[in-house]
Amino acid sequence: MTLWGGRFNKEPADSLAALSRSVHFDWRLAPYEIEVNLVHLKSLVAQAVISKDDGARIKEALLELATEIGGGKFTYTKNDEDVHSAIERGLIEKCGPVGGGIRAGRSRNDLVITDFKLYLVDHLLEIAGEICQLVQAFNNQADKYLDLIAPGFTHTQHAQPITFAQELSKHSHGLVRDIDRIFDWLDRNNLSPFGAGALAGSALVPNPEKIASELGFSGVMPNSIDAVSDRDFAAEALFIMAMTGVHLSKIGEEFILWSSSEFGWVEIDDAYATGSSIMPQKKNADVAELARGKSGRFIGNLTALLVVLKAMPFAYNRDLQEDKEPIFDSVDQLLLLLPAVTGMVETAKFLPAKISKTADGGFSLATEIADFLARKQIPFATAHEVAGACVKFCEKNGMTLQHLTTAQLLAIHPALTDEVKAFIDVKGAVDSRGSSMATSKKSVSAALTLLKKDISQIESEVSKRRKPLSGMI
Ligand code: ARG
Repeated sequence: MTLWGGRFNKEPADSLAALSRSVHFDWRLAPYEIEVNLVHLKSLVAQAVISKDDGARIKEALLELATEIGGGKFTYTKNDEDVHSAIERGLIEKCGPVGGGIRAGRSRNDLVITDFKLYLVDHLLEIAGEICQLVQAFNNQADKYLDLIAPGFTHTQHAQPITFAQELSKHSHGLVRDIDRIFDWLDRNNLSPFGAGALAGSALVPNPEKIASELGFSGVMPNSIDAVSDRDFAAEALFIMAMTGVHLSKIGEEFILWSSSEFGWVEIDDAYATGSSIMPQKKNADVAELARGKSGRFIGNLTALLVVLKAMPFAYNRDLQEDKEPIFDSVDQLLLLLPAVTGMVETAKFLPAKISKTADGGFSLATEIADFLARKQIPFATAHEVAGACVKFCEKNGMTLQHLTTAQLLAIHPALTDEVKAFIDVKGAVDSRGSSMATSKKSVSAALTLLKKDISQIESEVSKRRKPLSGMI
């Protein structure tokens, strides 16, 4: 069924109908559409645009439809153009022509965004809840490794020793920012476009604020033309999901590297690994690889929508129908990925002996020598040169910095007295970095405690804000 046949002399061409159809993907907005219809219906009855009796029939039909949609008994047909026309058809089937009364005062232009925003509020909060689980998985793993010292890397080369708990919980901070972005999205975007009508506002929606509040929005869009045009909220949501996807990709990359035979730092649990159909010995980190791979489509979905929006005239243009599939895909993929990555992290078995083995590798303690000299007021440029000379000497003589003798050290620089030896030690190096952000056990443990407090507050905030549907359905 179409909602616009009156002035036409011909049926739509099959190719047009196929092209313009969105019901196969926007059907998931059906519960939100029913909810919006119920609130709008009340307002139409209050204005006597729909009689009380008809209003009661339409309400009953909407509630029936909600149950039937939930149970799969009512669904779209091949003749329905979109979710809006399918539900209107359902109403007319149930209560006759009066069912068409629901269309008064609204346009699909404002209706579709209202449904879409309600969908996004629900699903972004669901994603936030899933991200909390992943942060908790990292926190639990980090708790076990406050005493484990690992090599830290820059440029994928040994850089400086670090506490392994810090290495694990670095991921949590990016993930917490992802959740923050969701809250920030809600603060800015939870405004209702309903009542904008086609673009000029609606004579039959005199109180959009009331409708907005009944739908759980925190206010109303201030300009009806902007209200039907704005898809910033969708682009922002796609960015949030792309950024989260990139974080998951980086987690994935690290697990791939750490689980390789060359590293051997982590064993991925059998439940989160896959085998090879030809090589029986293989155990592959597919969750991690899919996390890495899927970041491509999260970024692609964001790019796709930005390109659609660029230079589009204001108010509604049919191009805007292209806003939904990227969002639905990113939401689906993220909700598929997050529990799997959480499971992989939660069950991963780290191998401390392997991890600590190379903590002092690659002359990662050279900075300690430079810092030692700097504390003696030797200009850092000189200190850096001297530490470099120690590395060069060791490389030439096939030895490590810890094995430099007093005489050898003094020969390199007279300020390199015996005292320096206490600093050429992984534990000493880690302990010496005691600021709130740094890698000493004390610092990391305090940071982890704060993070745990934060995440439990965030988790209760997420569940407080989650109210999937208003309860009318
Ligand atoms: N299916 C359309 C969409 O998703 C609904 C809005 C259609 N509006 C219109 N004026 N043709 O954007």
